[in-house]
Amino acid sequence: MIRKAPIAAPITGAIHGTPEQEAYLEKIVKQFTITPDYLEKICTHFMSEMDKGLNKEGQTLAMIPSYVEGRLTGQEKGHFLALDLGGTNLRVVLVTLEGNGKYKTKSSKARVTTELKTGPMRDLCDYIADCVDEFLTEEGLSNTDTTLFLGYTFSFPVLQSRINRGILKSWTKGFNCTGAVGKDPVMLLQDALLRKNVPIKVAALVNDAVGTLLSNAYQKPNTSIGLILGTGSNGGYIEEIKKIGKWKSNENPTSHEMIINMEFGAFDNERMILPVTQYDNKVDRQSINPHGQIFEKMISGMYLGEITRNILLDMIDRELLFGPQEGRYDCKSWSKELSGHYAFVTSQMSTIESDGTPELTRTKEALDLNLNLHAISTPESKIIKRVCEAVGTRAAHLAGVAIAGIVRHCEISPEEGTDVGIDGSLYEFYPSFEERIYDALAILLPDHKNVRKTVRLGLAKDGSGVGAALTACVAAHMEGRKKGALG
Ligand code: BGC
Repeated sequence: MIRKAPIAAPITGAIHGTPEQEAYLEKIVKQFTITPDYLEKICTHFMSEMDKGLNKEGQTLAMIPSYVEGRLTGQEKGHFLALDLGGTNLRVVLVTLEGNGKYKTKSSKARVTTELKTGPMRDLCDYIADCVDEFLTEEGLSNTDTTLFLGYTFSFPVLQSRINRGILKSWTKGFNCTGAVGKDPVMLLQDALLRKNVPIKVAALVNDAVGTLLSNAYQKPNTSIGLILGTGSNGGYIEEIKKIGKWKSNENPTSHEMIINMEFGAFDNERMILPVTQYDNKVDRQSINPHGQIFEKMISGMYLGEITRNILLDMIDRELLFGPQEGRYDCKSWSKELSGHYAFVTSQMSTIESDGTPELTRTKEALDLNLNLHAISTPESKIIKRVCEAVGTRAAHLAGVAIAGIVRHCEISPEEGTDVGIDGSLYEFYPSFEERIYDALAILLPDHKNVRKTVRLGLAKDGSGVGAALTACVAAHMEGRKKGALG
């Protein structure tokens, strides 16, 4: 698999800011740098929260049993539909599992507008049903006699009660549809499909982190961890059922292992340990879900640009950025675009972090084009680049804490090692995100002398779609095994 993320380019030469600018920057860098000792403290806390969540309902790390039992063989086969409702898009995917870890996909993508994200859930489900219907027609599948099985990747915190049943706990990532929290997303979707006569059975409900683990495992059987580092963040891993103290299902599991959907975006919502800054607080306070998902807000694509924007605004307010300068005029009105919520998007940070030109020409162009900020000086551009680096590095280090926490919890030795499947735009595109995760892993997993070889991070592109199809397949197998056991 080709990795597209470039390497972050270092700032060349001194910044040449004013003493006030340099002092402010130093303060920011200090606030956003997590020392090795403190990374260790966060990791230890993360692990104790994992234990709490496994043993008791209602904990900050929800540690939700996914009802996906056992491991894949790589030989799973069949045609399945997958539906992926994530952060930004809705994807309908026809997955053909061919065995030997091979698969083919055909898919269509539709944008989920803010109106749909925040309107009635019925409208969203009707829209999804229409998209599925259209896709089936395009693929010539709408008039078949057999009902297709669909795996539904629903990337929000859902307390599952079966492989295709669950209750939405809360919305995240800018979604806030009415009439959905406390309800079963599968039933709501199945109703819409029935209303529109779309011949589909929603056979499995899967979180994207769990789906990513599965899709990676299909090709790399030694995968025990799946991660999403994109618009939002989360992790899933394979747990021994005997360690899930709160597991009380009456149904006998068909394996001794089950994938856990950690919902780690909510880690430390109590703010006991994370180095939350005033800029994070501002993002949190002005978000659609204040006080929720604090870890997610410090490490995910949806929020990194917004944290950076808050720092830049603070600098502007202190007259440390974009002050009067020859050749610039009307400076007050420049920041009009920058004043809009979420105006500074994380992909701009990627452009800035990868800019290796001596005068940061690409940075200047990007800021001009996207935010109407013209005639930015080179020291100002360097300051902005340094801020991006601080915010982006903290995010990657914290993502590393989560991975190290899981590896340590599962006692994965260097001899054993593991593959880690990761999907999401941040991991795929953000410069040096992976390298920075490894820097944290090297600190937190000292036994893993060659951590790149023993904790093998890898892009699981389309993990959610293929993972949903695999879950639908696993659901069918588990059903078969249970029936077999009953005689
Ligand atoms: C959701 C998770 C999801 C993650 C990544 C979070 O906001 O709570 O369920 O896995 O985003 O999409």
